[in-house]
Amino acid sequence: MRYIDLRSDTVTKPTPEMRLAMSVTEVGDDVYGDDATVNRLESLAALMTGKETAMFVPSGTMGNQIAIMTHTNRGDEIIAGVNSHIVHYEAGAPAVLSGVNYALVNNLDNKIYADDVERLIRPDNVHFPKTSLLCLENALTDGTVVPLHILQDSYAMAKKYNVSTHLDGARLFNAAVSLGADAKDIADCCDSVMFCISKGLCSPIGSMLCGSTEFIKRARYNRKILGGGMRQAGVLAACGIISLEKMVSRLHEDHDNALYMAKELNKLDGINVNLEKVQINMVFFRIGTPFFDVNRFVDYMHGSGVKMTGIRVNEFRFVTNNDVSRQDIDYVVSVIKKYIEL
Ligand SMILES: Cc1ncc(COP(=O)(O)O)c(C=O)c1O
Repeated sequence: MRYIDLRSDTVTKPTPEMRLAMSVTEVGDDVYGDDATVNRLESLAALMTGKETAMFVPSGTMGNQIAIMTHTNRGDEIIAGVNSHIVHYEAGAPAVLSGVNYALVNNLDNKIYADDVERLIRPDNVHFPKTSLLCLENALTDGTVVPLHILQDSYAMAKKYNVSTHLDGARLFNAAVSLGADAKDIADCCDSVMFCISKGLCSPIGSMLCGSTEFIKRARYNRKILGGGMRQAGVLAACGIISLEKMVSRLHEDHDNALYMAKELNKLDGINVNLEKVQINMVFFRIGTPFFDVNRFVDYMHGSGVKMTGIRVNEFRFVTNNDVSRQDIDYVVSVIKKYIEL
């Protein structure tokens, strides 16, 4: 049975072109720097983010954590959003791996403003941890996008106090499409940026950490410490090159599909989607009352060929992706309509 999988864009399968490229690409031992395809992917990632150098890592989480390890010393404090992926979804890794504290920003819109940065940077005083890193995110995990001027102001404020900035850009290219900007314009607002090729860009595995040559040189040691040095990784990098050369230009289709789906869902009784928040490929929506039976609904959808998860009591998230067509969306909306009318 074919399922329509709306749980995330991480579920995308490599395209036939990627499968073919994996089988023919040139490979070598990347820990020795011998893998020509990895080297090519790293150069392309650096070029597209406007950074000096890039490094291939197995996952977005590892890319973020290597960045934190490289920018900080044990006992330092990092400024980050309370709902950011780094704080909320990486299993407490900054404390475990880098021994850092958090100074959390808890704004309703999940954005970090220059004022927040200035307020949270610790004075130079023996009682306080040293603030050494600002962690920004774009697109945000809530599916919204941070405008460039907000990023620029926060980055400038961190710089003023000699605090480094890392950007979790797992969906950097989605954010760029949404802003009508170049990925470089976003990457200009940070010292290091991580983006994923394994999400809407359809590669099976991998993320890129980009920054100055000196930063990436130190980051390579931390990747080794975490066991992230890979050998003939060119079979994966070959997909990454296709992600960057071919798949970025189709991300707008996922965004259009998400907005279409949001509008269709809003036509159904008891469903509420805030259209202003549909800015990339994610649709967050509520159904009915707080007593809505989430598990029963998710089981019903699964039985109808749709994979989804509930994120809160009666809140759900759909993520459009390369493997979900407009026709699939019409089908999904029709089965939800049936459920509501039962
Ligand atoms: C904003 C954000 N950052 C980082 C990650 C981590 O990526 P990975 O799942 O490759 O570790 C994700 C994954 O969904 C994400 O959404």
